Formats: sequence, C-alpha cells, structure tokens
Amino acid sequence: MTAPKTLLSAEKIAAKVRELGAEITQDYQGKSPLLVGVLKGCVTFMADLARAIDLPCEFEFMKVSSYGAGTKTSGTVKILMDLGCDIEGRDIIIIEDILDSGLTLDYLIKQLQIRKPASIKICTLLEKPSRRQTDVVVDYLGFQVEDLFVVGYGLDYAGLYRNLSYIGILEN
Ligand code: IMP
Ligand code: MG
Repeated sequence: MTAPKTLLSAEKIAAKVRELGAEITQDYQGKSPLLVGVLKGCVTFMADLARAIDLPCEFEFMKVSSYGAGTKTSGTVKILMDLGCDIEGRDIIIIEDILDSGLTLDYLIKQLQIRKPASIKICTLLEKPSRRQTDVVVDYLGFQVEDLFVVGYGLDYAGLYRNLSYIGILEN
C-alpha cells in the first residue's frame, strides 16, 4: 500500500483547527454548545477542535450511512445511530469531516431542526465546492479542496487511512 500524497500537512491542519476553535469560542460566549459529530470521519477533527474551544461544551454523535465502500455518494442517507439526548433549546454545532454533495448534511439538518434546537451551525474541515448538490451553508470551514478523493485525519477509503495525521490524495 503506497502512502497517499500529502495535500494538507498535520501542521497546516493543526493551525486551522486552532483558528476554528478560537472563532467558535468568540461566537458562543456565554453559551454551552452541543458538538454533534458525524461518525466516523469526525473523530480526529472533533477531538482536536473541541480542545481548541474554550467553552463548556458537550459531545454527542450520530452515525449515518450514504457511501458503502465506494468513493461516490449513493444519494441515500440512513441514520444508523441517533443522538443520546434531547436537543430542544440547545445550540448545536454539527462537526463533519467533509462536505461533498451536501446530501448527508442537508438530511441531518432537516432531521435535527424538527427537534427544535435553539440554533444549528455547521463546522466542516473540508469541502468540495464543485460537487455540491444542495444549498447547505457552512458556518465554520477548514479548507476547500478539489474534486479528488482524500483520506487521512479521520477520512477513510473502505475503512482505512483514518489514522493518518495528514490529509492525502489517494492515487490508484
Ligand atoms: P456528502 O453527503 O456527499 O456531502 O458526503 C459527505 C460524506 O462523504 C463525508 O462525511 C465523508 O464521509 C464522505 N466523503 C466525501 N468525499 C470524501 C473523500 O474525498 N474522502 C473520504 N470521504 C469522503
Ligand atoms: Mg463523514
């Protein structure tokens, strides 16, 4: 297995995560946001981002499926694991690894809005603007990337590469 070619180094990611954490800390002064991570890709990013947020915040996770083992969206989103708490009146920040077509987040936002949170914002490490099929608006964005399949720092291909400390391009 050849190592993916570096697109974003661990240092570059760490600097951006600190910036995003500082921005969230500013925006949520006096509040206690509920970070909702979308498993499994969010894990590395959320762990680092949460430690860059200087506020009392709680963690929840959801697991959705839209991809299987392929690299293109199937267009079908299913909730495989739901939140463990009531979110009515809460300030929600959804934490995602990457916004691609936007179908996953579009579906999740609609599902969560029904539960009457005080607010919902989106924080995603990466986005591929060229592939957007929905008008989901990102509130906190790390980096825009080209239409390439990327792995590492939580992002996988068929379950692998999540444990890379950088984000790379899978060349096959
Ligand atoms: P969307 O519903 O098309 O926006 O897809 C979002 C999800 O697809 C992300 O949370 C990732 O799990 C996965 N995904 C999309 N593009 C990539 C990629 O380049 N590498 C790894 N996973 C990806
Ligand atoms: Mg994901």
